[in-house]
Amino acid sequence: MGAPWTVLKFGGDSVATYESWRTIARETAERATHGRVLVVCSALAGVTDLLLKAVTDARSGNAGDALARVERAHLGLASAAGLDPAAPALAPMRSQLEEAARLLEGVRLTGEAPPRLTARILAVGELASTRLGEAILAKLGVKARWLDARDLLESAPRPLDPDERRYLAASVPPTRAPERVDAAAGEDRVVLTQGFIARTPEGHTCLLGRGGSDTSAALLAALSGAEALEIWTDVPGLFTADPRQVPAARLIRNIGYREARELASLGAKVLHPPCLDPVARHGIPVSIRATPHPEMPGTRIEGESEAHPAVTAVTCRPGGTLLSISTVAMWDTPGFLSRFFAPFETLGVSVDLIGTSETAVSVTLDSVPGGIDGAVFRRLLAGLGELGEVQVIHPCAVVSIVGRRIRATLGEIAPALTAFQERPVHLISNSAEDLNLSFVVDEEEGTALVRRLHDLLFSARGDDPRLGPTWERLRGAPAPEAGTAWWELRRAELLAIAGDGRAHYVYDLATVRERARRLKGALPAIDRFYYSMKANPHPAILETVAAEGFGIECVSIQEVETARARLGAGAPLLFTPNFCAVDEYVRAAALGAELTVDGPHLAREAGALLEGREVAVRLDPGWGAGHNEKVRTGGAGSKFGHPIDEFDELATALAGAGARLVGLHAHLGSGILAPQAWLALAHVLAGIAARVGPSLRWIDLGGGLGVPERPGQPELDLDALQAGLATIARALPAIEWRLEPGRYLVADAGVLLAPVTQIRRKAQTVFVGVATGMNSLIRPALYGAWHPIVNLTRHPAPPDLFAQVVGPICESGDVLGRDRWIRAPSVGDVLLIGNAGAYGRAMASSYNLRPPAEETVLA
Ligand code: LLP
Repeated sequence: MGAPWTVLKFGGDSVATYESWRTIARETAERATHGRVLVVCSALAGVTDLLLKAVTDARSGNAGDALARVERAHLGLASAAGLDPAAPALAPMRSQLEEAARLLEGVRLTGEAPPRLTARILAVGELASTRLGEAILAKLGVKARWLDARDLLESAPRPLDPDERRYLAASVPPTRAPERVDAAAGEDRVVLTQGFIARTPEGHTCLLGRGGSDTSAALLAALSGAEALEIWTDVPGLFTADPRQVPAARLIRNIGYREARELASLGAKVLHPPCLDPVARHGIPVSIRATPHPEMPGTRIEGESEAHPAVTAVTCRPGGTLLSISTVAMWDTPGFLSRFFAPFETLGVSVDLIGTSETAVSVTLDSVPGGIDGAVFRRLLAGLGELGEVQVIHPCAVVSIVGRRIRATLGEIAPALTAFQERPVHLISNSAEDLNLSFVVDEEEGTALVRRLHDLLFSARGDDPRLGPTWERLRGAPAPEAGTAWWELRRAELLAIAGDGRAHYVYDLATVRERARRLKGALPAIDRFYYSMKANPHPAILETVAAEGFGIECVSIQEVETARARLGAGAPLLFTPNFCAVDEYVRAAALGAELTVDGPHLAREAGALLEGREVAVRLDPGWGAGHNEKVRTGGAGSKFGHPIDEFDELATALAGAGARLVGLHAHLGSGILAPQAWLALAHVLAGIAARVGPSLRWIDLGGGLGVPERPGQPELDLDALQAGLATIARALPAIEWRLEPGRYLVADAGVLLAPVTQIRRKAQTVFVGVATGMNSLIRPALYGAWHPIVNLTRHPAPPDLFAQVVGPICESGDVLGRDRWIRAPSVGDVLLIGNAGAYGRAMASSYNLRPPAEETVLA
């Protein structure tokens, strides 16, 4: 037994250009270093259609034009590869094309093209493409043994199969017989063969049906006992929706065989659905890869080892017909359904979805022979009309939510079903396999529903490891809008700073100032702003925001001491710690900070401190919000705040300790982009205000104001926030309303500059290594956060490299940018990581004893 086989299948577009053949050669050679490779190729793009046209033309007596185009396609590719069309290496290809001409001449003379002959003519597409491929690979240094697929795959026709089926849409049983492939391959490590074609038991050529090359590859993978099947095509995998309808559709990185088959049959065109059976049966993993972009991750299909429920995609199949029949005759009548289905069988109409009740049956038909104006459909309606009243809806679309164990995901799906509001749904169906939940709707609603459902189901799944980048991003990052960000205007200064080869954080104080003014200007309903210094405690930033009239919100005694030392005695400080020792409260109070208490424990443990003191309470409204689970600070599971339902107990305990309650405080979480979050909170806290009484002076709605992370994400709507707050504040005119943002003021004001240290291709993946990693910026690893990355040295040259941007830390999570388009760098180029002013350096560490990036401030 030789080394294990890997089967690589290349489709028509993937074999049509010399550039693609270079990829084929590289990928093949790479795999041949540690195993054997069976390369399966389609005909050059368009050639099968041309051959079909040649057959039709020849029957009506026209010779040659389509065949001449077939020849030109092959000769054009040969010359692009630098091969002389007359070279001996191309003799086998030429003899295939000559064979086609000879057979077509036979068709022309007889005026007939029976299926057996048509199959032989169409097979020329694959036979010629692989003969040409053999010569191109040899030129590129890859020696491949050409095998005739008809010697490997034999069909198993059923006795009554018509010739169309026997020769043009044959089926081949998925057997495993590695010794046959080994014997045919001999000593060669690389074998090149055809998709689409096989032989009948009598030794004639037969075809596996349109799209059959995927199936050939899967059958050959099963036959050879391959360890993997790779299907190389022009798109990089399966997506969570059809990217032509939903550009924000995301690449599915991993999927089970059954789900993938479901997706393929519900309309994803990337895979020919029957091809999954042979590989699933033998447990062979399948990857889908893009020939134009071998560096892209692709989709991996394998056994559903983890059976946890998941929503994987949304699909839409238009052009269907819904047939319903209602009749009381169904009631308690055994065998009614068999009578209902009888005309379908007689007329050869196949049914797709079905729903039944005691008095009605509805079915959808994917296609009707002759269409719905044809005789077959008329006869079907007549047959059904004898059973009850028939209703037809056409055209309709089947919109499906695809995944595994869909019934167990209903809770997750529920909110998305609002997409169907005010759109009629004619039928809902979910089969025993539980791989989809399908809705039959009017056809014109299909696309809009898919978009809406996709948005509702997937937009919040930012860091789901099963999902990759969006289609838009895989196609290439949009060219950056030049000259709009501060760092573009100050590019030269930044490059000079990073000229020492080390990583640097750089902050632009003008941007901090601009953000502070924008916030104050947009939110006159807020009387006092505090800056949450945990986001970035750099002294220059503290001074900048203080000069803009912001107080400082602190969560540790160290923050209180730093702010006081830096800003002097007059600066308003608010202390809102969590699980902190009594001693810290005592010291913070001594430094003049206002205290926020988040539970009755302080009344018990620090009565002396509270006696006669003004305090605020931090409440948990019972829900949280934010960009990631880890930063949502409300709700029963979170460690923050006192439950709002138990406010009275806390108020009593504080009063008992002699404290005077002057403030209410709550913070929902971080990175919130929906103004409604604070409005709901303001509403709830305003409701508590009356219970506090006249001592209450202020209500603090916390921080959490988000900034857009990914391109295209909308900004936080400050106008809507202002409008809502103004209404609520009007009802409580004596109250001072407060906000304590951190991120909003500093995120965009900071960048991390990271010089490139190494560029490495490993298998297909390109890694760009930079001088620092998660020790400087942990947000991608911790939250799956996305930070824009550009090659500052080459900016604004458009991105041309798809890569993983990684740091030097010894953890595989040390990835600053996954699946990024950047301008290809050289070692020494400076990459700029944006949106890094908040929670960047503030959360840095010296992990691996690597010091994090140092900070520089631009005034
Ligand atoms: N107030 C309190 C009580 C807070 O806990 C926080 C943040 C803020 C205000 C300010 O939130 P901001 O406006 O910055 O969202 N490391 C995470 C963020 C954690 C936020 C913790 N508390 C990140 O990098 O996304």
